[in-house]
Amino acid sequence: MSDPLHIVILTGAGISAESGIETFRSEGGLWEQYPIEQVATPEGFAADPALVHHFYNMRRAALKVVEPNAAHLALAELQTGLEARGGSLTIITQNVDDLHSQAGARGVIHMHGILTSLFCSACDHRFDWVDDVAHDMPCPACQTTGGPNKSVVRPDIVWFGEMPYEMDVIEARLRACDMFVSIGTSGAVYPAAGLVQMAGQLGKQTLELNLEKSQGSHFFDESRLGEAGTIVPKWVTEVLG
Ligand code: OAD
Repeated sequence: MSDPLHIVILTGAGISAESGIETFRSEGGLWEQYPIEQVATPEGFAADPALVHHFYNMRRAALKVVEPNAAHLALAELQTGLEARGGSLTIITQNVDDLHSQAGARGVIHMHGILTSLFCSACDHRFDWVDDVAHDMPCPACQTTGGPNKSVVRPDIVWFGEMPYEMDVIEARLRACDMFVSIGTSGAVYPAAGLVQMAGQLGKQTLELNLEKSQGSHFFDESRLGEAGTIVPKWVTEVLG
């Protein structure tokens, strides 16, 4: 592989696992504890908003006690290193935690949203929020309030059946890069899982760094297996020489 100058990285829950954030599809993972249909779909939110807010309140609270690990820090270092030589690093994450930014990465694309943001489904007002949300919380902009089983304010999270954010920017960054790297994702959720195929069709180098083979491993030029906290810093050292 030639030296990449412009790199696009897609990260998933595996990169935050060593920070203590639960992944989704491991044994006993989040989707075994909470049915996806109940807590991660617009229909689930309409049926039981209090349950959905409880699920995201727990995850928001968990964010307060975790820190970026060696993999997040290495990617922030890679971004600085590539920019110093006239290159770029775009980090696209499926994660709703803010650990890439906490590690110092800039311009992170949260394609599935972020826990620390809410929006009003009545007036579309978006606002930062780090604490618990009650299902009848009024929108701070339009003051619309929920009812006994109705919530106006919702987590700024892309649920199943909804379109991920910034797909046009993601496609443009992929077209302009030399290399696409996927880190810590099972490759189970589209359109994120399809980015490697798009990169391959565009003739980009593709590399996977994951604990185990993912559903899309065969689409990558190379797969390296191991814990992100170990294999990501090692790869970053190779790239930065
Ligand atoms: P998954 O839980 O599906 O996959 C996590 C991947 O990380 C698995 O392949 C693990 O083997 C790997 N992994 C676990 N620990 C690791 C470690 N220490 N180092 C490296 N890899 C490790 O999570 P995602 O692929 O992120 O979407 O899931 C994608 C989307 O599905 C999420 O964004 C979420 C979920 O439903 C929404 O909620 C919309």
